[in-house]
Amino acid sequence: MRRPFVAGNWKMNLSLAAGTALAKAIAAECPAGSNVDVAVCPAFPYLIPVKEVIAGSGVQLGAQNAYFTPPGAFTGEVALDMLTDVGVDWVILGHSERRQFFGDTDPLINQKLQATIAKGLGAILCVGELLADREANRTEAVLETQLGGDFAGVDAAALDKIVIAYEPVWAIGTGVTASPAQAEAAHAFIRNWLANRYNTTVADAVRIQYGGSVKPDNAAELLSQPNVDGALVGGASLKAEQFLPIIQAARTIAGK
Ligand code: PGA
Repeated sequence: MRRPFVAGNWKMNLSLAAGTALAKAIAAECPAGSNVDVAVCPAFPYLIPVKEVIAGSGVQLGAQNAYFTPPGAFTGEVALDMLTDVGVDWVILGHSERRQFFGDTDPLINQKLQATIAKGLGAILCVGELLADREANRTEAVLETQLGGDFAGVDAAALDKIVIAYEPVWAIGTGVTASPAQAEAAHAFIRNWLANRYNTTVADAVRIQYGGSVKPDNAAELLSQPNVDGALVGGASLKAEQFLPIIQAARTIAGK
């Protein structure tokens, strides 16, 4: 069985005090050696203080973006070397907000993905369709285009460093969740794509998180779908009393 992975994408939220308090509360409930992987992904300025707070716990650290080149003259960007330097484990890439507002195209995401893997960091690669795509029955076509672009030149050996997050854009921050059947269908499509592009061994091993309005009350049903291996959680990751029950749902499923 694939080990479930629940990650909190804090986006551009929280303060130093609130972020460290939240990380502390999560760390207290997530000792090392659990049957579920847990990560928190704060904004860049809070990576170091959050890292200090989660040290020794089972909670891992993720960044929300990175630039692909070595350190140099790229004002406003953050190099993977810097993320490695401060002990980041994961980098979220291709989030729909990056695609929508900051010009992250598939070729750019591909460069970031390749550089992230080359640095030995884990990548959480986000893909997902817009509402208009789903309504026009284009979900699979969109996923195929994104995956094809994002994985260009990435070989099978790199796949153990990559987690895919299926995040239908219409479900992000909207309170509208994909139904468990819709999520399962998209996840199965992605896994099948991996099997065709690589091989079934790799496809069976890659974890695919669902993201989009995951909450304590829908987590168990979503996470119990056969091809759903965890969650990338936005809004509900900002409060321990909402994030911890989602982790608990994953633990219960993993324990079965
Ligand atoms: P949401 O965000 O849980 O607030 O919908 C998910 C995400 O964007 O990763």
